[in-house]
Amino acid sequence: MLNGKNILIGITGGIAAYKICELIRMYKRSGANVRVVCTPNALNFVTKLTLQNLSQNEVGIEEFTTENYKPEHISYADEADIMVIAPATANTIGKIANGICDNLLTSITCAFTKPVIICPAMNCGMWNNVFVQENINKLKHAGYNIIEPEEGFLACGYNGKGRLCELEKIYQKTENLLTLKNKNLAGKKIVITAGGTIEAIDTVRYISNYSSGKMGIALADCAYEMGADVLLITTVNTSKPYGVINVKSAEDMKIAIEKEFDNTDCIIMAAAVADYKAKDQLNHKMKKTSEDEISITLIKNPDILKCLCEKRAKVLVPSNSCASQKAPLIIGFCAESENLIENAKNKIKNKGCDYLVANDISRKDIGFSSDFNEVSILKNDGTVKHLERADKYTIAKNILEEIYG
Ligand code: PMT
Repeated sequence: MLNGKNILIGITGGIAAYKICELIRMYKRSGANVRVVCTPNALNFVTKLTLQNLSQNEVGIEEFTTENYKPEHISYADEADIMVIAPATANTIGKIANGICDNLLTSITCAFTKPVIICPAMNCGMWNNVFVQENINKLKHAGYNIIEPEEGFLACGYNGKGRLCELEKIYQKTENLLTLKNKNLAGKKIVITAGGTIEAIDTVRYISNYSSGKMGIALADCAYEMGADVLLITTVNTSKPYGVINVKSAEDMKIAIEKEFDNTDCIIMAAAVADYKAKDQLNHKMKKTSEDEISITLIKNPDILKCLCEKRAKVLVPSNSCASQKAPLIIGFCAESENLIENAKNKIKNKGCDYLVANDISRKDIGFSSDFNEVSILKNDGTVKHLERADKYTIAKNILEEIYG
């Protein structure tokens, strides 16, 4: 898939630098041309000779050389299709987020106009540092692709979040970004929902579910990278280069979507919307009583997806007016723990949407909170397409490609 692609790897001074030798080999095996640029500190962990042999290219370190008439940072930036910075230290992340260019790697990053993947790796205390997190959010907001570090035993002896993500994740993200049918969603406005709705019982307690928002956010990221004008309506706090509206309850979510309805080409409901909410939502903390058992009466929430489809049906079947209102494509998700396809077939009819993406939420290795999913895409003409288990971004990409070709 990466045959002939030009990948620029930036290595900074962290112990995980040794792992990048294998990443270079993975890219090379798939036919990519790899160039490596290092900060001077990276060479404390890997040698220039190793990187040069593996990439079969000169390794860039010095910003100011006399051998090339072109400025080094601009020529590296011009040649590459994508830049992957791994491991990215807190120091380099801070520099990139603040526009500082004091070495070849940071100067190239500043001049780079194509996709950049940043893979932080550091001690867990550093990762949780308030300024590091501010910088990460700044980078996310600016459209950099951050692959967050993973939890585990760190080289410094600590246990926590900070170790470089699996190389397979970096490879997969590179492949996904380089093989997107570039910009084919340009000019489309897409509204995507993500996360579990939060239904208040009183001022401190609520009913919700295990949705992390990962599936909806992956769809939003992917649609944005395909050129769409994206609006994410979510219960999860996230920093993005596209529009984000934070909501809590199903009612809030419904209001936010309905505001967009008339100006939207597509609505994707990946959120796990609570079917019921507390009948009385107290505006104080409910007192503990002497009773061992209490009851809370639940009432139905609006079915947002169904309401949207009904609203669209009215737009699509105007009386004798010359209504020229746009009717958005509507895509639902379907979370089932048994009889997935059978239930999904009933659901797509009942809700009236164009596509329904069905996932089995009884499995631990996909669905709720997992980084992975496996889905079947049902179309309203009765066809079903199965997507094998993959990371949620890959699933998102395949869903969007199925819908938009
Ligand atoms: O967020 P993650 O941790 O990544 O997990 C992803 C996911 C499992 C939440 C996601 O893939 C998923 O399945 N989302 C839909 C969950 C759900 O509410 O499914 P449902 O079968 O109960 O509802 C069907 C559709 O109706 C959904 O599009 C839902 O958004 C919508 N709905 C449901 C109830 C309601 N009151 N209003 C709605 O609009």
